[in-house]
Amino acid sequence: MKIDLLQMVDQGGCSSKIPPKQLEEILKHLPLPVDPDILVNIDTRDDAGVYRISDDLALVFTTDFFPPVCSDPYEFGQIAAANSISDVYAMGGIPALALNIMMFPSSKLPLNVYSEILKGGFDKASEAGVKIIGGHTIDDSPPKYGLAVIGFIHPGKLITNAGARPGDYLILTKPVGTGVIMAGHRLGMASDKDLNETKRLMKLLNKSGAEVMKKFNISGATDITGFGLGGHVLKMACASKVSMNIFMRKVPLIGSTWNLVDNGCIPGAAFTNLDYAENGTSFSSDLDYNLKMIAFDAQTSGGLLMSVPAHLKALVVEELKKSGLNETSVIGEVVQKREKSIYLTN
Ligand code: CO
Ligand code: CO
Ligand code: CO
Repeated sequence: MKIDLLQMVDQGGCSSKIPPKQLEEILKHLPLPVDPDILVNIDTRDDAGVYRISDDLALVFTTDFFPPVCSDPYEFGQIAAANSISDVYAMGGIPALALNIMMFPSSKLPLNVYSEILKGGFDKASEAGVKIIGGHTIDDSPPKYGLAVIGFIHPGKLITNAGARPGDYLILTKPVGTGVIMAGHRLGMASDKDLNETKRLMKLLNKSGAEVMKKFNISGATDITGFGLGGHVLKMACASKVSMNIFMRKVPLIGSTWNLVDNGCIPGAAFTNLDYAENGTSFSSDLDYNLKMIAFDAQTSGGLLMSVPAHLKALVVEELKKSGLNETSVIGEVVQKREKSIYLTN
């Protein structure tokens, strides 16, 4: 019997995060530990926590897990692992160790599905040089999988979402539309070509992008996942105390993303992300509605968004393309803090 994991979920992948507005409400009241060696905490809503253990070594900690974003268990494992490890890359760290986090309905699915998911995770982690040295499983339906990851970084070489400076350009390394295409696939509206490209992109590690950032000493970046491009730009603009102009026509899209949205295929997570970011965003009066919704489409294992000084822009784009990230694009610019955090235009 061929297992189709997508049959078990309404919203898979990063689309199943709780609405960011509710999350913000909870985080506001969360007590935070105080310690001078905590270099990055939840305050700036960054990709990972960072803790200094000596003058030349800090640990980057992160975890991510979610329900199936595709039908095949092995591919689900690969995508979930690539997505979990991405937060270490987004901070400029070298991912090193991980633990499996698994929820699995042992009475509903054969156990070989469990091992296929783990094998996908193991293979992707190996590709990233990450050693999985343990884990934890709960009996739960639908299945959920991800990693808790530890990476290493020099405390002076941190890349954070607070590192964007006015005058920088914003460079995105992967096209957008994973939420739309996967929703379209489930409705029978997306082509196999678009489906395969989306899965390829979700499995693709942000490793080469991170290497380019390190080579050019980039100080500001994040990865684009469940809160959508707009949601993550908002977090980055707030943490950096700047505003960001985003030119939606410069944002590369996966295959028929725009057409699917035009035909009404807009996943629910795009609306909750929009709801969260709306107050902090200015929408130009002529902004294409489809592009507006695509800006808030929840991405699973999306690309890196880096804030790059003007004099390095061309070099960084060239280097990213050379590393295989062919659709790398300059999608916006960082400006002095204005009334809104994001200015979204065509
Ligand atoms: Co992240
Ligand atoms: Co994350
Ligand atoms: Co970061």
